[in-house]
Amino acid sequence: MSRIIVVSNRTPGKGPAAGGLAVALRKTLAEREGFWFGWSGKLVDTPATDVRFEDIDGLSVAQIDLTRDDHHAYYAGFSNSILWPSFHLRLDLATIEAHWYEGYRRVNQQFAHALLPLLKADDIIWVHDYHLIPLASELRNLGARNRIGFYLHIPFPTSDALYAIPHHQELMRDLSRYDLVGMQALRDVAAFTEFAEHQAPATLSGSPLQAIDFGRTEVDAFPIGSDPDAFARLATSPAANKMVKRMELALHGQQLILGVDRLDYSKGLPQRVEAYEKLLANDPRFRRQVHMLQVAPPSRDTIKEYQATSDALDAICGRVMGRFAEPDWQPLTYVKRAYGQPSLAGLYRLARVGLVTPLRDGMNLVAHEYVGAQDPEDPGVLVLSRFAGAAEIFEDAILVNPFDTDETAEALRMALDMPRDERIARWQGLMAAARNHNVEDWSKSFLERLAPASARGTATRDI
Ligand code: F6P
Repeated sequence: MSRIIVVSNRTPGKGPAAGGLAVALRKTLAEREGFWFGWSGKLVDTPATDVRFEDIDGLSVAQIDLTRDDHHAYYAGFSNSILWPSFHLRLDLATIEAHWYEGYRRVNQQFAHALLPLLKADDIIWVHDYHLIPLASELRNLGARNRIGFYLHIPFPTSDALYAIPHHQELMRDLSRYDLVGMQALRDVAAFTEFAEHQAPATLSGSPLQAIDFGRTEVDAFPIGSDPDAFARLATSPAANKMVKRMELALHGQQLILGVDRLDYSKGLPQRVEAYEKLLANDPRFRRQVHMLQVAPPSRDTIKEYQATSDALDAICGRVMGRFAEPDWQPLTYVKRAYGQPSLAGLYRLARVGLVTPLRDGMNLVAHEYVGAQDPEDPGVLVLSRFAGAAEIFEDAILVNPFDTDETAEALRMALDMPRDERIARWQGLMAAARNHNVEDWSKSFLERLAPASARGTATRDI
């Protein structure tokens, strides 16, 4: 059987904090003698060429260092100040500096040069996320003929937003050099197909039209998931119980509304707190009866738009506190710090409402984890943004438009007032959907589709 080589910007870390993706792929990589390749997390002053192999909890990980300047242009620059805001339809938050693209390409070239000598002819390569769109092109330019797949963890942009990205034609051509491109949701495949089938005239695309041939590239939705049953076990583990006990003491019987998100403008955090403010303003019976906890670990905080989001959240949390807090009651707690999975699992289980309202999101695994952690006898309610990929599979959530804070406030009211029978019925539907989309099946189905046609025994469907 061919080896599987996984490539991503960050490689998995040690210990129980390792993400679901690493957990799901560990067994496959061990069985097929594959490895995970990516950036070491180390910044150096001069370009490094050596690859270091390390065994991380049974996972073989190969890493390279990047120079400070290249990393800045590639990560904070092109990836997170241009691609991230554009793919999330926040062109107003994009900053364009022309030279970042060179750094982005240079890092992809460096990845390709370092990876190529490690490859066998029949290795299957699985590249993850927007940092590495050009990697297949760079590998193919060096002669690699392997099957190469790409998975986009974030949403795919509409054509208008795509045209605003410098070098978008080249990036789309880069995507056409993969054998398989996987997206989170049908909405993303539709946006991609729209581009592929009606490529922009020169006036829109800003450069002479050279039709891109996507003939070799298969594109499909592979919605990622979690391991909801593992989350259920974690939520009742002693480590989770420790957090549950602490929180129960603090709550004095109030119902908990919980949000857990990286501090990112795509997550709709100020809008969410405003919706909570409207709930307290419109329906005074909830004052002293509910408490909102927002966990928001800082992310990409060297980028000014992230600092502005943090400031906006500080301001609105302060406003809600000033408006509703009393000497013996606080409406909300806001913590800018990361918690381990067991503590989060305990908090999810305790929360009557899981408030997951990103303005746009690839999938949103917090929604999956919240569902997994619930008590089947007395589950909470998931209030979920229509613009998260998760909305395509979680029909039993209360779906909201996160830009409409009145609608979200009303969804909060419904969730808090929802009788137990309805909560159980909805949760059963959600848990079935989470199980149907678990992360292990997700990786298996992507890898099966990426295997050579001879190994699959089926014809490929090209667009
Ligand atoms: O959701 C996209 C993503 O890149 C995830 O893969 C990652 O866990 C998260 O954003 C955090 O990003 P960063 O690596 O920039 O901290």
